[in-house]
Amino acid sequence: MASPELNVIKNAKPDPRGQPVQVIAVTGGKGGVGKTTVSVNLATALAAAGKRVVLLDGDLGLANADVFLGLSPRYTLAHVMSGERTLDEVVVQAPQGFQVIPAASGAADLATMSAAEHLGLVQAFSSLAAKVDVMIVDTAAGIAHSVLQFSQASQHVVVVVCDEPASLTDAYALVKVLSRNHGVGRFRVVANQVRAPGGGAELFRRFELVTARFLEVVLEFAGEIPEDEYLRRSVREQRTVFEAYPSCPAARAFKKLAARADTWPVPAGPRGNIEFFVERLVRRAAPRLEAVQ
Ligand SMILES: Nc1ncnc2c1ncn2[C@@H]1O[C@H](COP(=O)(O)OP(=O)(O)OP(=O)(O)O)[C@@H](O)[C@H]1O
Ligand SMILES: [Mg+2]
Repeated sequence: MASPELNVIKNAKPDPRGQPVQVIAVTGGKGGVGKTTVSVNLATALAAAGKRVVLLDGDLGLANADVFLGLSPRYTLAHVMSGERTLDEVVVQAPQGFQVIPAASGAADLATMSAAEHLGLVQAFSSLAAKVDVMIVDTAAGIAHSVLQFSQASQHVVVVVCDEPASLTDAYALVKVLSRNHGVGRFRVVANQVRAPGGGAELFRRFELVTARFLEVVLEFAGEIPEDEYLRRSVREQRTVFEAYPSCPAARAFKKLAARADTWPVPAGPRGNIEFFVERLVRRAAPRLEAVQ
C-alpha cells in the first residue's frame, strides 16, 4: 500500500509561482519606427517556435497591437486593477497563437493603486506565470511615464530604430532617461526598415558611437528587419507578416530575431518571476506607498 507521503509526491505539481518568464519591453522613442510591428511579429515567431507567449499591449493609441491583429478586446488591465474583471476575462487569444492583454494606457492608474489592488495585480499575474514562457510589452511612442515604467520593470529592453535623424535622437533621449533615472543599463537595438543588407549594423554603430560618448550603457545589436512591402500589406490585412507571408524577407528576419531573443538570459531566482515585473511596475510608480507602509 502506498504511503500518504508517496501519494503527495506522485500528485505534486510544480509550483506555478517562481516559474521564470522572460519579459521583453519593445520601445523606440519615436512614433512609427515599428515598435508594434516588432512586438506582434516577435510574438508570432516565438509562438511558432513553441513558446507560450503573452503580449501586453502598453499602447492603447490608434495603431495599437489589437488593431494589427484584428482583435476587438472589451476590457483592459485597468478592469483587473479595479477588480471588475479577472485577468482571464481580459486576455484575448490572437489567431497567431499567442495571448494579448490590453493594458491601461494611463500610468496614473498604477501610481494610485492601493496596497490591496497592488496585491490583486501581483496575484493575477502570478496565475499567468504558469501558462507563459515569454511576455512582450509593446510600449507607446515618446518617453511617457508608462513607457519608462514598463521598460524599467522588464528584464530586456529592445530599442527599435530606423535610419532617420529623429529616430536616433528620440531613441537616444529614451536610453538616456532610462539609464540615468530608471536603472536600465543594457539595451538591445533592432534596426527596422533597413533598405540594404548590413544597413542595420551600420545604423547600430552610429547609434552606439553617440551613446558610448555620453552615457554609461551597454548596447547590443539584436538584428535588422528589412523594409518590406509584404509587411505593409500584412498590416493592412490585420495579420502579422510572419504568419501571412512566412518566406518574405521581413518574416525571415523576425524568425532570426526570435531565435536570438530565445538566447537572452532569464534572471535566476525571484528576478525572473513575473511577480517581479508587477512589483517593479508598481513600486517605482508609487514610491510614496512604500514610505507610508
Ligand atoms: N520593416 C518594415 N517594412 C515596411 N514597412 C514597415 C516596416 N516596419 C514598419 N513599417 C510600417 O510602418 C508603420 C508603423 O509601424 P508601427 O505601427 O509598428 O510603428 P510604432 O513604432 O508602433 O508606431 P507608434 O509609435 O504609433 O506606436 C506600419 O504600419 C508599417 O506599415
Ligand atoms: Mg505602436
